[in-house]
Amino acid sequence: MSKLLEGSVAVITGAGRGIGRSIALAFADAGADIAICARSETALQAVKEEIESKGKTCVSQVVDIADPDAVEAFCAHIISKFQTVNILVNNAGAYLDRGSFEESNPEDWWRTIEVNVRGPYLITRHLISAMGAGAKIMNLNSGKGYSAGQNSSGYHVSKAALKMFTESLANELWSRQIEVNTIIPGPTATTTLSRQDPDSGVTTEDILDRFTNTPPAGLPAWERVKHPDEVAQLALQLASYPTGGPTGQVFSLARRPL
Ligand SMILES: NC(=O)c1ccc[n+]([C@@H]2O[C@H](COP(=O)([O-])OP(=O)(O)OC[C@H]3O[C@@H](n4cnc5c(N)ncnc54)[C@H](OP(=O)(O)O)[C@@H]3O)[C@@H](O)[C@H]2O)c1
Repeated sequence: MSKLLEGSVAVITGAGRGIGRSIALAFADAGADIAICARSETALQAVKEEIESKGKTCVSQVVDIADPDAVEAFCAHIISKFQTVNILVNNAGAYLDRGSFEESNPEDWWRTIEVNVRGPYLITRHLISAMGAGAKIMNLNSGKGYSAGQNSSGYHVSKAALKMFTESLANELWSRQIEVNTIIPGPTATTTLSRQDPDSGVTTEDILDRFTNTPPAGLPAWERVKHPDEVAQLALQLASYPTGGPTGQVFSLARRPL
């Protein structure tokens, strides 16, 4: 029996760890060839080897998603290798701005916008000509892009802009039968959530253990921290819809209203 994504090419940004890594591995398991990027070469290389061990081709490149030249070179590499792109997951994200507005660092605030908004814009802009009918774009957003909480104003603003980016692309691309949707993971066991150094050796299981009985600050008791593989399941479902599936929609795994 053929696999769900056999014959597809999927590009996932920020796939060295966390949710992006889980999505890249799930898509490779489902039969897709994969292109991945992040800034850490060691992490990328490990994911590339996992993908290749599944018998799939993997293009991996060190890219800062907010750097126009690096993104252009990555996209040129992808197109020359595969000619076509069926799935683009804009996952790489920055959450540098966590404090109050008055204490915010202007560099971190703006860098958050650059990674979370300019990054998805640049890569989508360079890959769109290689995407045809039935292609899917998924943008990783957050409840914070839909309803502002306290602090982290740069993150809120960046994800709200990503919401509008997703909606405008969906409006422009439906006539080409390219579907553009939002995934909101809800709290997920990654070092972005636990605020730990990704190189500290902390594992997904450590983070899940830490939040088993106590949800992260500010979240209700009935919210649940999930494994990144659960987000990958949702991404796989969206990736495998036939042409003419949902577009301009928000798919959330949160356990509370946005
Ligand atoms: N985890 C959650 O609870 C949660 C909740 C809501 C939304 N989200 C969203 O889900 C997405 C993934 O989050 P995550 O928790 O999986 O994050 P993560 O574990 O920190 O992983 C982020 C990935 O993106 C890469 N990355 C970061 N900045 C980059 C840049 N400038 N250029 C290229 N790659 C970059 C990182 O690698 P390098 O550092 O090596 O570049 C890493 O591979 C983000 O958009 C985030 O906002 C997460």
